[in-house]
Amino acid sequence: MYRNFAYVYDNLMEDYNYPKWINYIRKIFDRCGVVPNNVVDLACGTGSITIGLADKGYAITGIDQSADMLNVAKQKARAKGFDIQFICQDIRYIMLHHPVDAITCMCDGFNYILSLQELEEAFKNIYKLLNPGGILIFDISSYYKLSSILGSNTMVDTDNEISFIWQNHFDKSDKICQMELTFFVAKGDLYKRFDEVHFQRAYTREEITEAIYHVGFDSVSCYHPFTFDQAKKRAHRLVFVAQR
Ligand SMILES: C[S@@+](CC[C@H](N)C(=O)[O-])C[C@H]1O[C@@H](n2cnc3c(N)ncnc32)[C@H](O)[C@@H]1O
Repeated sequence: MYRNFAYVYDNLMEDYNYPKWINYIRKIFDRCGVVPNNVVDLACGTGSITIGLADKGYAITGIDQSADMLNVAKQKARAKGFDIQFICQDIRYIMLHHPVDAITCMCDGFNYILSLQELEEAFKNIYKLLNPGGILIFDISSYYKLSSILGSNTMVDTDNEISFIWQNHFDKSDKICQMELTFFVAKGDLYKRFDEVHFQRAYTREEITEAIYHVGFDSVSCYHPFTFDQAKKRAHRLVFVAQR
C-alpha cells in the first residue's frame, strides 16, 4: 500500500480540505485547554497536516509506515523550509523516546488497523506516550461510509492526468472493506498503469469509544467534522477527541 500511489496521493486529495482540518485541530486544542509543546502526527502520509501544523508554530514529528509517503512528505517539508523529523514506524506499535502533549492521526489512519484488538493495543501505546492532560485527535471513515457508500461499489474517475478505477468489496463478517485501486498516470503520450489493494476496517463509534476508555483515557468525544456537535447518524467521517 502507498507505494506508487504516494506520488499521486496529493493530486487526489483535493476534497479533504487540509487548511480547514488544521484550523479545526487548533480549535480542539483551545477547547480542551491544551497548549502542546510537542505534537506527533501518526499515519502522516505525505505530511499535509504535519507541515500545516508546523507552519502554525507547533514542534511536530510525522510517523508513517510507508517510505514512499514519507519521501514525498520530506520533499514537501524541505521545499517549504521546515526541518521536520519523519519516522518510518508502524502505528500499531508506536514507540518514542519522549512523552508528547498531543497526537493526531488524520484521514483514516486508524481504519487501516484491521482488528479491534490491534486498535486497542495502539490506543494503549498512545496513552503511554501522552503526558497527563495530553490529547489524541483523529478522524476515521465511518461504518456507514465504508459499508454503504464505498460498500461493494465501483468508482471511476477519468481525468486528463490521472485516471483511476476503484473496486470495493465490503465484508460484513469481518467489517473490512477491500479496495482494489487501478491508476493510469499520464507519461508523455502514454499512461503508466499501477495497482494497489487497500484494506480498511469499519468501526462503530461505540467500539472506538469503549476501546479508548478501556486503555485509561479520562474522556472521549465523537464529533461531526469541523463542529463540536454529536456526529450525525449518516456522517461519512467521525472525529474523536480523547484526553488523558
Ligand atoms: C489516507 S492516508 C492519510 C495520510 C495523512 N494523514 C493525510 O491526512 O493525508 C493513510 C496513511 O496511513 C498510513 N498507514 C496505514 N497503516 C499504517 C500503520 N500500521 N502504521 C503507520 N502508518 C500507516 C499509510 O501509509 C498512509 O500514509
